Amino acid sequence: MNIIEAKNLTFAYEENTKRHVIENMSFGLKAGTVTVLTGLSGCGKSTLCQILCGIIPEFTGGELTGTVMLEGKDMTMMGMQDIAKKVGYVMQDPDRQIIASTVEDELAFAPENLCIEPKKIRRDVNRVMDKLAITGLALKNPGKLSGGEKQITAIASVLTLDPDIVIMDEPFSFLDEKGRRMVCEVIEELKREGKTILVVLHDIAALPFADKRIHMGEEVIYESYGK
Ligand SMILES: Nc1ncnc2c1ncn2[C@@H]1O[C@H](COP(=O)(O)OP(=O)(O)O)[C@@H](O)[C@H]1O
Ligand SMILES: [Mg+2]
Repeated sequence: MNIIEAKNLTFAYEENTKRHVIENMSFGLKAGTVTVLTGLSGCGKSTLCQILCGIIPEFTGGELTGTVMLEGKDMTMMGMQDIAKKVGYVMQDPDRQIIASTVEDELAFAPENLCIEPKKIRRDVNRVMDKLAITGLALKNPGKLSGGEKQITAIASVLTLDPDIVIMDEPFSFLDEKGRRMVCEVIEELKREGKTILVVLHDIAALPFADKRIHMGEEVIYESYGK
């Protein structure tokens, strides 16, 4: 089953409604698979990620046509809170995403915003820290972590709501080799758990276990690795 089904997506930012940043894209993301999204800088990868997690057009405006079905439901009929429980979005720059002064507060931030019961939040935060092996960082200031630890904290902070879909926008871009390995292992673990994952990447070799690739170029190319 396709957990996300995008049909005829076209989008232009408000500044220039004549320029389609996304032009008539249709694709599905099968539940439990890893898809990599590639393409030159400026081709619209981040824009597409933000459409799939509801930030666009809710917070940015612009003209979006076409449909995104999320577990069979039209996303435009869903509130941001419901979307946030299903789709986690890890921004390209963890420094822009991370706001709290400790790792555990960062992980608690999204569920606190949704007014989830504090005891449940505590359990969820501990579960995610345990899963990503960052319990030792609980009281650390995210701003002082290594690049890899910071990126994993950013990923962890979207996992406390236990979304079925996780979208990561160039998660490797600020990382050294060790950081990349750490993040790669986390992505593989999420795949094992059955999450549906979309990762914006430059080098597809970075995720050898990916199932599918969407390449945004002059034409959009969809490639399946037949797994
Ligand atoms: N908030 C915005 N307002 C207007 N134009 C934008 C905005 N964000 C991105 N763009 C433009 O949309 C195009 C696609 O950007 P983006 O989705 O960030 O590409 P990518 O992530 O592939 O590098 C670029 O030309 C960029 O300048
Ligand atoms: Mg981008």
